[in-house]
Amino acid sequence: MIGIFDSGMGGLSVAVKVRETFPSADIVYFGDTKNAPYGERPPHELAELTVKGLRFLTTHGATSIVSACNSVSTTLAVSLVDTFDLPPGSVIEMVGPTVAQFRRFEGEILLVATTATVRSGIYQNAFRMIGKEIDALPVPQLAGAIERGASEDELDGIVRGALAGMPEGKYQAVILGCTHYPFALGSFRKVIGDDVLLVDPAEAVADRVLARFWPREVGEGTFRCFISGESAPFRAKVRLLFPEVQDAVTLVE
Ligand code: DGL
Repeated sequence: MIGIFDSGMGGLSVAVKVRETFPSADIVYFGDTKNAPYGERPPHELAELTVKGLRFLTTHGATSIVSACNSVSTTLAVSLVDTFDLPPGSVIEMVGPTVAQFRRFEGEILLVATTATVRSGIYQNAFRMIGKEIDALPVPQLAGAIERGASEDELDGIVRGALAGMPEGKYQAVILGCTHYPFALGSFRKVIGDDVLLVDPAEAVADRVLARFWPREVGEGTFRCFISGESAPFRAKVRLLFPEVQDAVTLVE
């Protein structure tokens, strides 16, 4: 069973692609809605929450992990796999598959992400490994606003405010380096226009999941979610994205 982890509903943008790409995989999702958002938290808190989240998933049957939370990717750079007694190669995180698809990309790249991700420097360093310098911009409040089901107008305002100083015409690609941000795709599109490539890493991650976990994770195609705090917006998002699944969400204390 594949365990997918995020602070809240952001990882659902990855889960939906994983289900499309690998429909026979069984998925158990953990959204740490009680502690969301993660993006302004310091590294030691993120490390603790990551370990708890992954432990939850492994005790609920996960034998492979997708960390659908960019903000904890630096935590995963430490070999958590050893701590969790998972087979080698069984943890996939967001940064590697995202950066790998830019190996042959010519042009200027902007990463938009949480403060934690931008500060960690993990994307900037990963891009250096393929010989590229990128710019990175935090969009504070956006993941939190999405998590509480904010209106489109509010999301537009947050994105517009964060990208206000962005030099016009400089970037050929903008990477959504937070799994919540695809749920504000329209707001980004309005601000950056139609000519810039807007990249949702979920597809590259889903391709990696299939390449790495097939056929070992072939199952019955089940999907269930656990959340650590009650969240009507989370439940609504699951109903919207996974209409085929009944009663998918369980609250755990
Ligand atoms: N969706 C997560 C990420 O990709 C966390 C966002 C948050 O909780 O602030 O970074």
